[in-house]
Amino acid sequence: MSDTPDRVDPSAAAMQGVNGYWRALDADDIRRGEHRTMIGAMWDDIGTLQFEFLRRQGLQPFHRLLDVGCGSLRGGVHFVRYLDKGRYCGIDANASLVDAGHHELALAGLDQRGARLVADANFDVGRFGETFDYAIAVSVITHLFTDHIQACLKRVRHVLEQNGTFYVTFFEAPETAHLDPITHAPGEITTSYTQDPFHQSFEELQTLAARVGMRARLIGDFGHPRGQRMAAFSPL
Ligand SMILES: C[S@@+](CC[C@H](N)C(=O)[O-])C[C@H]1O[C@@H](n2cnc3c(N)ncnc32)[C@H](O)[C@@H]1O
Repeated sequence: MSDTPDRVDPSAAAMQGVNGYWRALDADDIRRGEHRTMIGAMWDDIGTLQFEFLRRQGLQPFHRLLDVGCGSLRGGVHFVRYLDKGRYCGIDANASLVDAGHHELALAGLDQRGARLVADANFDVGRFGETFDYAIAVSVITHLFTDHIQACLKRVRHVLEQNGTFYVTFFEAPETAHLDPITHAPGEITTSYTQDPFHQSFEELQTLAARVGMRARLIGDFGHPRGQRMAAFSPL
């Protein structure tokens, strides 16, 4: 279990002041379940939502799934339970949330299912040495500056199968460079173009995708309780 700030991936230091996910939880925090609040709460609702969403997109037990910004496995617990052994990989910038993910797997009796979790703030998903049929990032780019989103897409592109898809939630803006704050419904979260939590237009995501050889498709409302939309990225 992590108990000191140096358990946060050193590159995650860059996240200090950028978003709230650099703080290291200690073993007591994790035992108390503080990680469930830290990653945004709604543990059961948003965990089930992302699992059922990917099932509707065709996820089968034999598929390989990459969970980007997996946090403490709010969705991951459902995916690990469903997928064949060793088919789930998760990456997160915060090592203590990865520890909390292992704790959640143990609580659910899923610690022998071969889930692979790494702490890394640079989206170095190549370190798994795998390719993936599906990838997902729920409530992750909502906390990232555009250059980090670009890096994330580029790295994930390299490990996606040619017919694979990366599903990404975002707060949608009505136009490119929408500089006014937006309050989203449901949930009443207010987003910004320049500060966490961020919003973008779908066209901005399309531009980022095209730069790294991907196409973006807007799925839109998928039942997120805080008004996030879904976009799907696939290799060109
Ligand atoms: C709102 S939480 C969502 C976690 C998870 N996807 C879920 O649905 O519970 C956002 C997560 O993104 C992670 N994150 C933020 N910046 C990151 C980065 N550069 N690389 C990887 N993970 C990052 C945070 O550490 C945090 O766990």
